[in-house]
Order: sequence, then structure tokens, then C-alpha cells
Amino acid sequence: MSVLISPSILSADFAKLGEEVRAINAAGADWIHVDVMDGHFVPNITIGPNVVKALRPHTAKTFDVHLMISPVDSFLDAFAEAGADIITVHPEAGPHVHRTIQRIKALGKKAGISLNPATPAKMLDYLLEDLDLVLVMSVNPGFGGQSFISSQLRKIEAIRKSIDKLGKPIDLEVDGGIDATTAPLAISAGANVLVAGTATFKGGPTVYADNIARLRGN
Ligand code: DX5
Ligand code: ZN
Repeated sequence: MSVLISPSILSADFAKLGEEVRAINAAGADWIHVDVMDGHFVPNITIGPNVVKALRPHTAKTFDVHLMISPVDSFLDAFAEAGADIITVHPEAGPHVHRTIQRIKALGKKAGISLNPATPAKMLDYLLEDLDLVLVMSVNPGFGGQSFISSQLRKIEAIRKSIDKLGKPIDLEVDGGIDATTAPLAISAGANVLVAGTATFKGGPTVYADNIARLRGN
């Protein structure tokens, strides 16, 4: 199974985000992971739909938009219009997560569910078949640079089994504390998309390609 790398621009230089997206694109990123935080659902504030729209012309790659906001439904249209390709939400972020997924798909976008470290895989019952992506948080959401929570490997394994049983091409993404040591663990547990902020952006643009290669195990 080929592994995709989705660098989180949360760790980029916010004073030159367009340049950073172009650099990470040129360095071989498969997707661009955009962490949206509201200071309410998570204890940090990042960026909104206008920033996504401003970044859109800087790369043709998939915008993998991770919404850590609540309520979330009222912002789906804005992120879709801004150029998100995949919109991922947390089940705790709105009263009717199935309806949220339906809305994302009605907007013509791919839909993902993100599970916090304490949220069980069981949450995906009655949802998995409608999803394009499952995002397993391997840190508590809110900040980059935290340590990988290894209990999440068991969750990744369980979800991989469910996806394979279902036989649908649903991406299984892991987010938080991914580096050259934890990436192979997540991959062998069954993840096929790795989000990495710190590990891709550390050292600046001259080493982005090396950083990405290292995450792929090269
Ligand atoms: C945390 C975000 C992650 C995070 C990853 O809420 O969802 O995308 O920024 O950062 P690192 O790779 O530094 O753990
Ligand atoms: Zn994220």
C-alpha cells in the first residue's frame, strides 16, 4: 500500500504561508493538511476559510481540511467554496454527525471523521460506509509538537480491519506526533496517510524534501 504524506501547515511560517505551501508542494507533499481551530472546541485558534481561499492558487494538491470547530455545520459551505477537497469533522462537534457528513458530500467534497484519542472506533458504526476518510488523532487536538499516544495504534488496527471488511477505498489517516520513529508504527498498524507538522517543516524549505522522504522511510 502506498503511503501519502499530508504536511500540516500549522507548523509552517504563518508570515509567508503561500510560499510555504509552494515549497512543501515542490518537496513532494501528497496532500496539504489544514488545521482549523476555533478556541472553543480546542484550546487554540488558527485559520479560517479566507486563508484557505488565499492559499488555493498556490498548489493543485488536495486540501485536506481538518475542522476542529464547534458548531461545525455553519462553516461547511464556506470551506467547500474556499477550495477544500476533503473536509474532516469531529463527531463531538455537532448534534447530528451523519447529517454533517451528508452535507459535506452534497457540497461535492470528500468527507472524513476524526476520532480524538479517547473516542472509540465504535463511533464509526453506521457511519463508515458513508465516509471517504477516517482520521485517527494520535495526540489531543489543539497543538503541533506533542508526543504520539501509542494506544492509538490499536485503534488504527481495528479501523483498518473494518475498512478492509467493508471493501471500500476509505483512507485511514493518522495525525499527531508523526516522525521517522512513529511513522512506521502507524503504517504497520494500517494507516495509509500520515499528517506531519513538526517533522515536515523543521529545518526550513531546503530540507522539506528530505523530511518528507524520511517519513516515507527513504
Ligand atoms: C493537532 C493537529 C495536527 C498537528 C500535527 O490538533 O490536528 O495536525 O498540528 O502536528 P505535529 O505533526 O507537530 O504533531
Ligand atoms: Zn490535523
